[in-house]
Amino acid sequence: MSVGQRDSREFAPVASITGTIRPPADKSISHRAALLGAMSDGRTVIDGYLDSADTRSSLQAAIALGANVDGADESYVADRITMTGVGLRAAGSAGVDVGNAGTLLRLLPGWLAGQETGSWVIDGDASIRRRPVDRVVEPLRLMGARIECRDQRLPPVSIDGASLTGITYELPVASAQVKSCLLLAGLLAEGETRIIEPIASRDHTERMLTAAGAEIERDGNAITVQRAERLEPAMISVPADFSSAAFFIVAGCIVPGSEIVLPDVGMNPTRTGLLTALGRMGAEIEIEGESATGGEPTGTIISRHSALTPTEVGGDEIPLAIDELPLIALAACFAEGDTTIRDAGELRRKESDRIASAAAALRGLGAEVTESADGMVIHGTGSLRGGEVDSEGDHRIAMLGAVGGIASERGSVVHGIAAAAVSYPGFERDLAALVGD
Ligand code: S3P
Repeated sequence: MSVGQRDSREFAPVASITGTIRPPADKSISHRAALLGAMSDGRTVIDGYLDSADTRSSLQAAIALGANVDGADESYVADRITMTGVGLRAAGSAGVDVGNAGTLLRLLPGWLAGQETGSWVIDGDASIRRRPVDRVVEPLRLMGARIECRDQRLPPVSIDGASLTGITYELPVASAQVKSCLLLAGLLAEGETRIIEPIASRDHTERMLTAAGAEIERDGNAITVQRAERLEPAMISVPADFSSAAFFIVAGCIVPGSEIVLPDVGMNPTRTGLLTALGRMGAEIEIEGESATGGEPTGTIISRHSALTPTEVGGDEIPLAIDELPLIALAACFAEGDTTIRDAGELRRKESDRIASAAAALRGLGAEVTESADGMVIHGTGSLRGGEVDSEGDHRIAMLGAVGGIASERGSVVHGIAAAAVSYPGFERDLAALVGD
């Protein structure tokens, strides 16, 4: 690997990648830990909090709203964070900058809307200003929230505290962020709040709220939360992020002669759809040492080079692999024949339009890809030529370009590689360690 022009990197083809890497801590769980820590009465200890741009935004939001956080400053987050929350109904008025963090943007209004007094403005970077918030604004208004956004659907979001009432709400699209927002609002609302999701999405919020003493019940795809007077502070241990491990899982499958060991990875079944899809494609992936301690299942993932065949991914599988769909598309380039991804229109609303940006990245590497409104068809040939990739400021596309490059014939140049730090600041270092540079 060598340094190219500013913020561009070359990823040369490699013969194999081998070794052991503990991927960084889970981003979804870290965001929730910071928020729940701020909402709790007393001291929360978080072990292994993710030190990334996105999750620093969550800690800064917690501080802006009145929580006390030890172990974090502007540039560094300690491995163990101790925070003292302000309590469920005592968030201080503030302007909150969520940076690039879509999860913080969608979850925070759920907590703030139900405060008796106070007002808040939530805003973020240029990419955040393109992320829809009507999906949380509309149901919160049905609960009685006083909340406004730009053009009825975009940040900034302005909230004036109000009294909320529980509702039954059917989510139009499966979204863990929207579900989580309404669960938080439900804690503050009068009576019971019932959320029905069309397809099951990641359930970290339900697990963590239950551990904090909230009354949450699931019945099929309906989740009910009761009003709570307080949240108990918890000892939270954050596993490695399956979505970050995913880059090395796929790298292991597509680079000949590879064997990569990834310990302590979160194996929550609402996150691991990539393994099901790769399994159908013939990937040799082993899971060892599964453990269920600490609220979230974990395990060691071993990924080896495998001969891959095409597959179809859609329906109920989509939310379980939502952030890994571009990686499934990359793996599909190494299978001969057509792989179809459908029912994934939500991908167009991520940090970039990830159907367009993933398709453009793979085409930049020499793949033939046909885009559709809700997915894409990858016309796999069994190899990739290599070429140039623009991350479009999207962390997952930057890392996709790097993994595609090392697995290709000529390598890649990724423009905007710095975006990787949004979820995985040590990505280039870890990749270099596996490559043996
Ligand atoms: C997330 C949920 C998903 C996912 C995002 C993180 C979360 O978004 O894509 O990276 O932590 O709840 P949606 O809820 O919009 O599907």
